[in-house]
Amino acid sequence: MVAPPRVLLTAGPTHEPIDRVRYIANRSSGRMGMALAEAAVKRGWPTTLLLGPAPISPPESPHLRIVRFQTTADLQRLLADHWPQHDVLIMAAAVADFAPVQADSKAKLARGESLTLELRPTPDLLAGLAAVTRPDQRIIGFALEPVDRLLASAKAKLADKKLDAIVANPLETMDADRVTASVFFSDGHTAVAPANLLKTEFAQWLIQTLENRGVLNAQTGR
Ligand code: CTP
Repeated sequence: MVAPPRVLLTAGPTHEPIDRVRYIANRSSGRMGMALAEAAVKRGWPTTLLLGPAPISPPESPHLRIVRFQTTADLQRLLADHWPQHDVLIMAAAVADFAPVQADSKAKLARGESLTLELRPTPDLLAGLAAVTRPDQRIIGFALEPVDRLLASAKAKLADKKLDAIVANPLETMDADRVTASVFFSDGHTAVAPANLLKTEFAQWLIQTLENRGVLNAQTGR
């Protein structure tokens, strides 16, 4: 009997603290990742959702485990802990590219003064995972880009991050209800989703497309 794939999903934004009160965030709603979690648990697949600070309530299911993160560093630790026990990673989280070099307390300024924030680059989590990924595991990334450079950037990220597939998502998708996206596979195949799907519909389409392409098969011989 073929075991169901164990799916690891990441979703939502990161919050990178400026001090103990303030943070830098982004507009990711986490809804795409949640819709993917719903689609996976509907099939009865054991699913772990690493969920950032987004105001959403994931579905309750015996197949779904939810673990919360705040920062890119939190997510990096969680990925290191959870990835070995999964077959497939779908990385829908909107991870910050830069994080403030953190001050301990609350930044205090006199009125009229300007504040300079020092930002350091965050590690590329997907690129880092490539080194610890087993040959039987599969990784799917998301590329969020303006339409004019979506195709070229998504294909570059697919290769640079050594992914099995990447979802090319126009920037306008962020925080929206509907999505028009394509998936590029490392073998050169492209799958184009019907335009303007609800995120829940797109999630079903994506899971089905990945399954059809053999990307979601558990291959660990458990
Ligand atoms: N990602 C990651 N680690 C980061 C930033 C992004 O693993 N520090 C992941 C995202 O979760 C996504 C993929 O990489 O699956 C592409 O994210 P995107 O923000 O489009 O690209 P970046 O790698 O951040 O590159 P850039 O911002 O320069 O376009």
